Amino acid sequence: MKQQGGRLTDAFGRNITYLRLSITDRCNLRCFYCMPQADFNWMPPEDILRFEEIVQITRVLSGLGVKKVRFTGGEPLVRRDVVNLVRDVSILPGVEETCLTTNGVLLKQMAPRLFEAGLRHLNISLDTLHPERFAAITGRDNFQQVWEGIEKGIALGFFPVKINFVMMRGKNDDEIVDFARLTRRYPIDVRFIEFMPIGKGSKWGRNHFLSSDEAMGRIKEGLGPLVPVDIDPGGGPAAMYAIEGGIGRIGFISPLSHRFCSKCNRLRITADGRVRLCLFSDAEMELRDMLRKGVTDKQLAMFFSDIILRKPARYLSSKKDVPTCDRQMSSIGG
Ligand code: GTP
Ligand code: 5AD
Ligand code: SF4
Repeated sequence: MKQQGGRLTDAFGRNITYLRLSITDRCNLRCFYCMPQADFNWMPPEDILRFEEIVQITRVLSGLGVKKVRFTGGEPLVRRDVVNLVRDVSILPGVEETCLTTNGVLLKQMAPRLFEAGLRHLNISLDTLHPERFAAITGRDNFQQVWEGIEKGIALGFFPVKINFVMMRGKNDDEIVDFARLTRRYPIDVRFIEFMPIGKGSKWGRNHFLSSDEAMGRIKEGLGPLVPVDIDPGGGPAAMYAIEGGIGRIGFISPLSHRFCSKCNRLRITADGRVRLCLFSDAEMELRDMLRKGVTDKQLAMFFSDIILRKPARYLSSKKDVPTCDRQMSSIGG
């Protein structure tokens, strides 16, 4: 039994139990919606949080009640010490789940070491099942590696294995039913995500947006009824369903059409060590310099308890407005 710590509660009574850590802004793909010009503006390596800094942050936050830690990027598997990070974070008292969101390119080769280091929860981004389209969306011809990575993850016993599919009208929406059908053959969660306007100069546009409701309609038409299934209350923002005969599940993440802010339990840390209290708020708090000046765990705990009170109730007030953020997705990690 892992030890119980304190609590991190915001001004609206939401308990913060889920930490999303971007551990690098580097990526081996160039998804057009995420990092259009990243080659020209990588962060200098010294700006990126170091191993010990990430462990200290996680240690302190787990003492404050954070139970779930997700490593994101960029692409977290391009960071050299990622396996050791997984190992050291997984054994922290209070950390019950260590999770990874990856593009899957390096997964096949790294999955055994990640499993051995204690990782079980894998989310893999995949927006198409067609190799040529994969190359058009991501700028790289790596479909086969990603698919083999997914199969390897399932075979090794990672659970859950989730596929993240960002819905983009005119780009991949003709594959929605095909992705949903995967849950008949594979014990995976396929999650349909509404395309969000993230990053300055984002490629988002209303013409590319497709709502979860529309996707659900298409799946029902193609594959029959969608039956709601229970989800873990501390889990992510997806509403989960299953189709008849499905061994996997189908999820919808609908930040734009069905806002889930009232249940938000998360805190984000960017690759360069800034705290983001909301995905859609650029009001970030500097953390890296404090760590480099030798802040103690106690001081850090006070800092987090204090700033969490500034977490906004929700993004934007007007229902019609579309939320945005300036920072590129590649250094927040979703
Ligand atoms: P689970 O814990 O496995 O449910 O994962 P998750 O959905 O929290 O994480 P993942 O990294 O797989 O993110 C999936 C999608 O959900 C990405 O597009 C994220 O940007 C989006 N997402 C996750 N958390 C939030 C959130 O708090 N707000 C918004 N707007 N989107 C989020
Ligand atoms: N809107 C929705 N999801 C996005 N992701 C990246 N950019 C966007 C966007 N603009 C997804 C990735 C990955 C997760 C971290 O976020 O596909 O699965
Ligand atoms: Fe939480 Fe902000 Fe996402 Fe809303 S938009 S769920 S407040 S992170």
